[in-house]
Amino acid sequence: MQPIRHATSQAKPDANAREVWQGADPTIATVTIRTLLRAMREKKPFAALTCYDATTARWLERAGVPVLLVGDTAAEVILGYPNTLHAPLDFLITLTAAVKRGAPRCLVMADMPFMSYQANEDDGVRNAGRFMIEGNADTVKLEVDASFASLVAKMTRAGVPVVAHIGSRPQHAKQVGGYLAAGKTAEDAMKIIDDADAMLAAGAAMLLVEATPIEVTEEIVRRSNVPVIGCGAGSACHGQVVVTHDLLGLTDRQPPFALPIMSMGKELGEMADTWKDRVRTGALGDHPYTLADEQRVEFFRRIGRA
Ligand code: KIV
Repeated sequence: MQPIRHATSQAKPDANAREVWQGADPTIATVTIRTLLRAMREKKPFAALTCYDATTARWLERAGVPVLLVGDTAAEVILGYPNTLHAPLDFLITLTAAVKRGAPRCLVMADMPFMSYQANEDDGVRNAGRFMIEGNADTVKLEVDASFASLVAKMTRAGVPVVAHIGSRPQHAKQVGGYLAAGKTAEDAMKIIDDADAMLAAGAAMLLVEATPIEVTEEIVRRSNVPVIGCGAGSACHGQVVVTHDLLGLTDRQPPFALPIMSMGKELGEMADTWKDRVRTGALGDHPYTLADEQRVEFFRRIGRA
């Protein structure tokens, strides 16, 4: 089994690239589940990116990214933990609300963190509700297999649009020994197909498939009547999501399907060097705060420097 979060090659342009769907452009209209269904029917792939704060959300909305995922990868890229298990529920709800404030027209997908839905179904439904009410999320995502079908059905019945994350499930990384690809034997691949079927039958509003072989992804897409978002699952998916910090070049290692587009880590270093120079030389720019003449006289009188 191969670790999936490791850069090995440069991204090549896809000769079969399809026209990117413009209908979900959040600079024009609010993106909903219906708009993504339309993109799926029109066979125009849509982009999704992780986002954890209002400022980045504002710029991603302006750039026309229709779907923002407030991922539990926040545990890694925001909080500095080595894996996604450490994203506190309240923290992710707060980030979700911030992202929605920054990008009110994007479809905001909130990731339900480890142990916010696994222990019992009632808590799972209530916590999903918190993401919708307090976080203003448009959908919630949970890492599932077929055994979660009844939970997904209960959430769906309650009015929560569920994104069923299948294939590689980072919240199980400790159980399987790392962030690994999924479905690499015919038997494992069939389990993932069964998971997809169970989620679709339970009413999932979307599927998110992570790190599966192309053939497995294609079969899931073929069976699905709802949008399938891929993360390292190949170009057959209706949408594609990656961790924004990987594309920005802020992470130390990136998976081969999310190679950096920018070198923001390097640019941050350059920015810090320039600021250090300014501080050293006192070249801080104009000083906008002044005392009026009579106030200056009075001030110096009071401090005994008149
Ligand atoms: O938490 C996350 O960022 C994710 C994506 C990478 C799929 O779940």
